[in-house]
Amino acid sequence: MHASSLFRQLGFCGLVAFGLLGAMAHAAPPMPFEDQWQHIGVATCAGSNCHGSQRPFDDSPVLQNEYFLWQRDDAHSNAYKLLLTPDGKRIAANLGIKDAASAPECLTCHTDYVPANLRGRRYSMTEGVGCEACHGGAQEWLGPHVSGNTHAQNVAQGLYPLEDPVARARLCLHCHMGTKDKPIDHRIMGAGHPPLEFELDTFTNIQPAHFRVDADYRQRKPAYAPGAKVWAIGQLLAAETFLDGLLGDRFTDRGMFPELVFFDCNACHHPMQAPRWSAGTGGPLGPGEPRLADAYLVMTGVVLNTLQPDAGARWTAALADLHRASMQSVAKTREAAKTLRDIASATLPQIGKLTLSKAQALELIDRIAAAGLEGKAGDYTAAKQIYYASDALFYYLRQDHGVPASALQGPIDELFAAVDAGQSYNPDSLRSALRKLRSGAQQLR
Ligand code: HEC
Ligand code: HEC
Ligand code: HEC
Ligand code: HEC
Repeated sequence: MHASSLFRQLGFCGLVAFGLLGAMAHAAPPMPFEDQWQHIGVATCAGSNCHGSQRPFDDSPVLQNEYFLWQRDDAHSNAYKLLLTPDGKRIAANLGIKDAASAPECLTCHTDYVPANLRGRRYSMTEGVGCEACHGGAQEWLGPHVSGNTHAQNVAQGLYPLEDPVARARLCLHCHMGTKDKPIDHRIMGAGHPPLEFELDTFTNIQPAHFRVDADYRQRKPAYAPGAKVWAIGQLLAAETFLDGLLGDRFTDRGMFPELVFFDCNACHHPMQAPRWSAGTGGPLGPGEPRLADAYLVMTGVVLNTLQPDAGARWTAALADLHRASMQSVAKTREAAKTLRDIASATLPQIGKLTLSKAQALELIDRIAAAGLEGKAGDYTAAKQIYYASDALFYYLRQDHGVPASALQGPIDELFAAVDAGQSYNPDSLRSALRKLRSGAQQLR
């Protein structure tokens, strides 16, 4: 046997062993919507001595005004009510649904949708996405969590480990991207539903966050990770979730066309009179060829090329294959998606263990800016991801590496303005901000 093939075999065994360890470390806990516990309702959490205080407690490990924040500032408390608005009713009517507020295909994301036998006495769907939709059915942990249980004991009794960015991303993405368990399709978009987007770190913060990360928190919840890492992990998980969609039945169960929700909306929906084709957009595809929505895949490529260069090189090649395959056949598309999926799941445990250095964070910013400048962000969804990523990385540089707030704030504000333009988004203003961001980041190296 040649030394090189022996080496490859050993490498292979090592990978398998590592994969198993990684899988054990991340043995996925059941999602709140699939757990076995009764969901006992927001009202149970809302007492003024529990989580319903108007002001945060000073002498408590947790804020205790979580209910108050959720009810006043958090969109999730409004999620069910959206179904009763004129918009909600119009979407339903376009789909031939009589009443959105009793249609499982809407309730699955707009409420804490669990089977009837798990709806406790004070459970109410009208609360929308309540505490237990994220924290898990409280039947078993409600009492113990206020009488000395450790966090690990709570988790064993059904509390969902949201502090772990991998577990958190998996949950949020079910509703914020759609999955086989919580499907959304182009038909629902066509009926007027807004397109979905997600970035784990940004969305955790703008929810708004109802937790305080201090020494006590870090000690209770060692899986906590700073925002830049949450961003990176969130991208890998979003890529995995998207690829699982291509690999599953939803991609092909619509007759003649593949499920269009997996494609870049702007590839088809833009004014006919504005020819915008540029060779940079969408990798190896040509004019008139609809692109798969690759924003999360491009970002994952940036993460891997910076932090795991070998995997990064394989990723870049496989992503180009995926785009080419999407113009050939479903079978070839799935083959390429599987290659990407395998790279993502094999690298996730390693990314989870890293502490980002200042140089790595700056290199990430540089590569993200480069991706935008090379035209990969002609698409608005990708442009938003570029803004979220730059902001998360800059915040991390300030918090953990003493970079002054003034350093990159100007270009970050310009990026924000570019994507905040919404309908009148202009890729040129994004590129101009990215040039400044790039040279600012180079000066900090
Ligand atoms: C996969 C999960 C999912 C499904 C299924 C789903 N929604 Fe939504 N919906 C969302 C999310 C997430 C948002 C918030 C999007 C945002 O603001 O970024 C939203 C937003 C909305 C809005 C607000 C629109 C606006 O412009 O602000 C309405 C109305 C709505 N959904 C109605 C419905 C109806 C009706 C159905 C069923 C036909 C449905 N949704 C199915 C996840 C879902
Ligand atoms: C959309 C998801 C979501 C909803 C809904 C939600 N939370 Fe949270 N919650 C989180 C996330 C994410 C964290 C931060 C990670 C962690 O520490 O668990 C968190 C943290 C907390 C913490 C802080 C834990 C600590 O250790 O410091 C408490 C307490 C809490 N939530 C209570 C509530 C209550 C009460 C409600 C309902 C009124 C609620 N949450 C609704 C996602 C959610
Ligand atoms: C059960 C489904 C569900 C889960 C799980 C869920 N969300 Fe949501 N989320 C929604 C819906 C539906 C909306 C739209 C509500 C609205 O606009 O009133 C929403 C809105 C939001 C918004 C406001 C978006 C905007 O455009 O203003 C943020 C931020 C958000 N979610 C973050 C998160 C995070 C972070 C997680 C994971 C910890 C999460 N969500 C988990 C369903 C969900
Ligand atoms: C491959 C091309 C293609 C892609 C990609 C695509 N769509 Fe469509 N879309 C269509 C077609 C075709 C129609 C039906 C056109 C008609 O009704 O005139 C349509 C209809 C719609 C409509 C209804 C428009 C109307 O005037 O009634 C909306 C809204 C919509 N799409 C949103 C989206 C969103 C959001 C995305 C991305 C998640 C998306 N589309 C991706 C081709 C596409």
